[in-house]
Amino acid sequence: MRDAAPVSTSPRALPPNDPRQYDDLAGEWWQADGAFAMLHWLARARAALVPPAARRDAVLVDLGCGAGLLAPHLAGKGYRHIGVDLTRSALDQAAAHGVTVVNADVTAVPLADGCADVVSAGEVLEHVPDWPRAVAEACRLLRPGGLLVLDTLNDTLLARLIAVEIGERLPTVPRGIHDPRLFVDARALVAECARHGVELRLSGIRPELGGTLAWLLRRMRGRSTGRAEPRIVPTRSTAVLYQGHGRRSG
Ligand SMILES: C[S@@+](CC[C@H](N)C(=O)[O-])C[C@H]1O[C@@H](n2cnc3c(N)ncnc32)[C@H](O)[C@@H]1O
Repeated sequence: MRDAAPVSTSPRALPPNDPRQYDDLAGEWWQADGAFAMLHWLARARAALVPPAARRDAVLVDLGCGAGLLAPHLAGKGYRHIGVDLTRSALDQAAAHGVTVVNADVTAVPLADGCADVVSAGEVLEHVPDWPRAVAEACRLLRPGGLLVLDTLNDTLLARLIAVEIGERLPTVPRGIHDPRLFVDARALVAECARHGVELRLSGIRPELGGTLAWLLRRMRGRSTGRAEPRIVPTRSTAVLYQGHGRRSG
């Protein structure tokens, strides 16, 4: 990961959640202090939910994998990491980090039923207009007993305030990357997963406050934040950002 590069915002004026923003921000993915910094923190927390593979040839399908930020955190766990994403410029970077890439929509994944020991859907459902379709795909890909891990933003006023009105004014989230109308109601997500045989357990998460403030101050003063990235910690409320995990029945 490179350090202390300037954060750029998308040079084009694009509508909220327009996927072309990821092309405009392609150079930001792997910068520790870049526009996608918080995705690195979240990838570490998501990977902590993934146990070492229980069998040889185990597969983890990473829906909306972006540039493969999950890859370093899976190293040594024994999975073949397959990443699915719409954005070619991100997939090229994921491939360079050892991810087997599939250029596809997460609502229509060209992979076989039950092919995955783990499906990860990190920070993607809130970008998909038909997120129930993406959840159905995630569950279809899981083998019986397979594990679904995800994190997303809740469909609440508080999430709009914190993730969009405040978050997108900070150098950790690109401005205009979210369309809050797509945020994912936590209860509806649990119900949708249950319909497809996955009993999802949710927990609220947030970046730790002290570490985040120190990170922001260093970042705003133009100093390298180095490897001192804020931890993602549990919080009682799922009203803003939340993780989910659950195994497919059968
Ligand atoms: C916020 S990024 C998260 C990337 C990655 N999961 C991470 O946490 O670093 C959202 C990603 O989802 C992808 N994406 C959005 N909608 C998608 C869709 N319908 N099908 C496939 N990928 C999609 C975008 O191209 C982008 O790479």
